[in-house]
This record gives sequence, structure tokens and C-alpha cells, in this order.
Amino acid sequence: MNAPFSATTLDGIRADLAAAPRLLFIDGKFVPAASGETFEVIDPATGQVFAHAAAGDRADIDLAVQAARRALDGPWSKVIPSQRARLMIKLADLIEQHGEELALLESLDNGMPFMMAKFAAVLGAAEQLRYNAGWATKLTGETIDPSWPGEYHSFTLREPVGVVGSIVPWNFPFVMAVAKIAPALAAGCTIVLKPAEQTPLTAVKLGELIAAAGFPDGTVNIVTGFGKTAGAAIVEHPGVDKVSFTGSTVTGRSILRAATGNLKRVTLELGGKSPVVVFPDADLAKAIPSAAMGIFGNAGQVCAAGSRLFVHERVYDEVLEGVSRMAAGLKVGAGLAPGTQMGPLVSQTQLERVLGYIDSGAGEGATVGIGGARIEGEGYGGYFVQPTVLTGTAAGMKVVEEEIFGPVLCAMKFGDGDIDAIAKSANESDYGLAASIWTRDMSDGLRLAKRIKAGTVRINGGGAGVDPAIPLGGFKQSGWGRENGRAGVEAYTEIKAVTIGLN
Ligand code: NAI
Ligand code: MG
Repeated sequence: MNAPFSATTLDGIRADLAAAPRLLFIDGKFVPAASGETFEVIDPATGQVFAHAAAGDRADIDLAVQAARRALDGPWSKVIPSQRARLMIKLADLIEQHGEELALLESLDNGMPFMMAKFAAVLGAAEQLRYNAGWATKLTGETIDPSWPGEYHSFTLREPVGVVGSIVPWNFPFVMAVAKIAPALAAGCTIVLKPAEQTPLTAVKLGELIAAAGFPDGTVNIVTGFGKTAGAAIVEHPGVDKVSFTGSTVTGRSILRAATGNLKRVTLELGGKSPVVVFPDADLAKAIPSAAMGIFGNAGQVCAAGSRLFVHERVYDEVLEGVSRMAAGLKVGAGLAPGTQMGPLVSQTQLERVLGYIDSGAGEGATVGIGGARIEGEGYGGYFVQPTVLTGTAAGMKVVEEEIFGPVLCAMKFGDGDIDAIAKSANESDYGLAASIWTRDMSDGLRLAKRIKAGTVRINGGGAGVDPAIPLGGFKQSGWGRENGRAGVEAYTEIKAVTIGLN
């Protein structure tokens, strides 16, 4: 099979990465960390170091925040909304023009299949910019009739919230980075972005494209580094007005605590343990592959992954057999290997975490229906785990309660009963990010959708991907606030009310 990318481009990227560490992008320039330190970037398919990146820390964050503040008060504040939109669309075009290189970097760094990197990560990122560019010219306040005696004119302004610290995880590094900066730019904010230490490379490349697009220096600053150093420095910095974070619930809580110093605005997009409910009348030919890819796609490293599968007892065997057949048939391999459908986990830590959960499930009485083991051998030197289906799982087990963030599905049965009982099982979780429902009876589907406590509900496969127009975020411990859509961009604004006395 011919590779869907050019081998020469890949060789060029590897040589370039081997030649020099990636740098920080601060105030429009690429600079080493103040400390001179770098960290290793590991290819999750091989476990080998293939690049280095600058280890940004407090001093670098401070320079980045100062640059962002200067841009906010200076040149960026003079860029009118329509010009902001043009710059964002220019950046989207540049991303597409560099799509192959970006997808190769993303696949090398994160391990995801090349085609997923290309379509979900790179083209998805370009769409984030184009969608949010539309908002730049459409953010408006309102006029209000005050109730005081006399004559007044009251109106509201929507102003940029200020300097934004954006902290992103490693599961979809590029599209998440772009999805953070796009609404912030549309709203007129400036940004200090920190990619995850596991996957810094496409964010650094984004810096090059931002410079090429012509954004004023300091509008977007990109500091690679670790969570406990660079990440914590962003959250604690008094010059940062808002933090937008995607990652684990544990880190989300520590970010909230650290943001109290200057009462930063905080948006949190955290983990999930999303239910997939299959009614007996569902179109199984669609439900089965969707349930399988909803947990095995990107090796289960997806915040909205459908990790708890509830199937009506009449179709349970058929659904389980179908999902298991898909699991067994998936081509697992390096992201850049031909035909790969599922890549490795991102890191040794994640590999150990996921294998630990599988063991704990078995220890608590679950049955490993399919998969359950690490994949090793020629071509599998990295962090590969088999697509895994656990049966005999039940509420209360660790594997059913906690986010595994790996290709591990917990399957459960339900019998005839009312929608409230099904909703109760689906809601038996601290999380509330997403849910999927499969039924041909739209009143059952909608009644369940209304009872489920989750920020996103998908019926019959609607919205399999992230759409920049559709709000995303969590109920309960899955987060604070929403990203995407109008709510997503408005979260980067402050409302100011102005009243003029006409008396
Ligand atoms: P994490 O939440 O610790 O890391 C995400 C980002 O936060 C990274 O950029 C990291 O450098 C940064 N960070 C870490 N500690 C920080 C701190 N104290 N202050 C500021 N920034 C900080 O996630 P981790 O440890 O990589 O993964 C652990 C688990 O989190 C996964 O197994 C998964 O369950 C969950 N997770 C959920 C994601 C989602 O999309 N909702 C994404 C990544 C992880
Ligand atoms: Mg961590």
C-alpha cells in the first residue's frame, strides 16, 4: 500500500527534529528557555526519543505574559474585528498548506493514525479558525431600558477578557491548541499557550504559521514545558486574566485552587465516562461500529469516549459480538504504518495506567471478553494495548467509575424498564461530558436525552466528531463552562454595562 504522505517530507522532518531542539515562541520570536533546559520528546510507537523541546518555566511564562499584555494593550487592540477575522482565515489557509507536515508531526508525537491526524487534527483545526473568524465581526452587546425614573440610554459592550492562559493535553494536541486560540483571538484576547509535555511539536509549528500569517508580535505566545512548572506558572501568574484548560479532573481541581489569587476566569474541559445506550430497536448495523470506534478511536484517548456501553438484553449478544469482532479486527500499529486504524497510547505512564485498570477490572470480577494485553514484538516497541472489551462489569467497580483513557470498553446489560431506570444507570457517574443513544423510537431517544446529565448527547450517531459550532463541555465533574459555538467565544469576553443619563 502506498503511504498517504511523502517519504521525503517525513525524512526531512526527522532530520530537522534531530538537528536542533524546538524553541519557545515568545513575542514573535523563537527563543530557548531562559534556563537553557530542554526535555525529550518520545515517539510512542517506538518508545524512542526523536526530538527535544525547550523546557519553559516560570521566567519564560513571565516573558510570554508580558508580551501578551503589550500586544493586548498595543497593536492587537488596534486590529479591527474584520482584520482579526482575515488573519484567522489566513492562518487556517496556512495550516492547510502545511497540512501534510503538521499531520506527520502530530502522528509521530501523539501516535495517532496519519489519516486521523490529517482530517481530525489538521483540517479540524483549520475549521476551528474559520468558524471562530466569523464571530470576530458578530460579537455584540445589547441595549437595555433601565427601570429608574428619568431618561437613560443603557447598553452593554463585550470586551476581550484579556490575557488568556491556554493549557492543552496530549490526546489531540494540534486541534485542541487551535480550538483554544481561535475563539480567544476572535474575541480580541492575547494568549500564552502551553502544549502538553508529551506532545509539544505541532504547537511549535503553529508558532511559525502564526508569525507567517502576520499576527502582531506577542498576540500568541507558545511555551513548551511541564505542567508542574510552566503550567502552574501560567495559572498562578497575576498577569493572566483567564485560564482555559483541557485535561484531567485532578489537574482541573488544582488549577481552580491556584487561580484564586487574582480570581482568574476559568474554563475547564475535563474527563468523562460517557454512556452509550443501545435500545433493542436500534439500527445495529450503525450502532455497533459507532460503539466500537467511540472507544477504540484514538486508542480511547478521547474525553468524550463512550466507555460504558449499556445494551438491552435482547440485543446484548449481537452487539457484544459485533463490537468484539471489530476490536479483534482493528489494525493496531504505528501512526505512520500503512493501514493503521489504532495507534499506541501516548506514553509509558498511560500504558501502565491502562494496563493497571484492566488488571483491576479482572480483580473486581469483570471478564476480559477480548483483548486485555499489551502488544509487543517487531514494530511494537512502544505503548500498544489491544482493543479491550470487559464484560460482567457493574456500577461500583473502579473500571466503571474512573476514566481509563484507553481502548477499554465496559459492557453492561439492561432489561425492560422505564426510561428513568436507564437514565439512572447512565447517570451513575461523577462525570457528565457526553452520552450516546441508539434507538429508532425518537420519543424514547429524546426522553432519555432530557434525563441524561451530560453536556453533549448524540442520538443515532449524530455529531460523531467535534464541530466548532456545537457547544462542548461537562456537567458535574466534567468541567466548567463550554467551548465551541457562541458560548465558547463569549467565554473570552467580559460584559461592560454603560448608562448615559439623558436628563
Ligand atoms: P493532565 O491534566 O495532568 O495534563 C493536561 C495538561 O495540563 C498538560 O499540558 C499538563 O502539562 C498540564 N498540567 C498538569 N499539571 C498542571 C498544573 N498543576 N498546573 C497547570 N497545568 C498543569 O493530564 P495527564 O496527567 O497527562 O493525564 C492523566 C489523565 O487525565 C488521563 O489518563 C485522562 O484520564 C485524563 N485526561 C483527560 C483529557 C481530556 O481530554 N479531558 C486529556 C488528557 C488527560
Ligand atoms: Mg500530568
